[in-house]
Amino acid sequence: MEVLGIDVGGSGIKGAVVDLQNGKFTANRIRYPTPQPSTPRAVSEIIARITQEFSWIQPIGVGFPAVVKKNVIFSAANVDRSWVGLDAGELLTEATGCPVALVNDADAAALAELNYSGIKHKSGTVLFLTVGTGIGSGLIRDGRLIPNTELGHLILEKFGEAEVYASNAARKRDRLKWKDWAPRFGLYLRHLEDLFQPDCFIIGGGASKKGDRFVPYLNIETRILMASLKNRAGIIGAALVAKQTLYG
Ligand code: BGC
Repeated sequence: MEVLGIDVGGSGIKGAVVDLQNGKFTANRIRYPTPQPSTPRAVSEIIARITQEFSWIQPIGVGFPAVVKKNVIFSAANVDRSWVGLDAGELLTEATGCPVALVNDADAAALAELNYSGIKHKSGTVLFLTVGTGIGSGLIRDGRLIPNTELGHLILEKFGEAEVYASNAARKRDRLKWKDWAPRFGLYLRHLEDLFQPDCFIIGGGASKKGDRFVPYLNIETRILMASLKNRAGIIGAALVAKQTLYG
């Protein structure tokens, strides 16, 4: 089965048709910059445009950078505040003419890794972290996702909120090389080790392409892997969730 997956990020909105047999894109993905401000209207126009460009008339899965419960948005750290309280499923169904299922972007990416990567991490506690404009988390226990964990908003004592201190956007803002950013991310990972005792971290988002530049400097105990699907994971996971929720 093929499903259109869309990943709404802080800097880009990306879509591709995913073959859910193998998790591969059937054609090149389409990307537009995230409009600023990222209001519901502006974002839904881009999603409608991507849908039209694929001539798509079937269900769509959307990964969204916020707490999502039954298609309703409950937070807005890196998108316009007017999303909070909205039934984004209804809004996007109206904008695209297709049934739409939403899921938190990091949860989507974690599900994609779980289902389509060759990595063996089906048992134990796996903590998937997307490191981009924000930090998103997908917590997996024995192969089951615990949704909406929002661990990017943990407070790191005197350093403040984890995603403000240790995201890739923070690295760029403070003009740090990967090696000089690594102690910040390592401090965050050590805090997560203390709290969750994970068996494995998996890193997704933009940072997953640069693992060799920062992993040697992290100083952590836990096994750490880069997401094998790289930043395609969000799109693939969103498509998978649409299949599960809309096709049953
Ligand atoms: C949001 C999360 C999201 C993460 C990555 C955070 O600011 O609160 O819901 O998963 O950014 O996009």
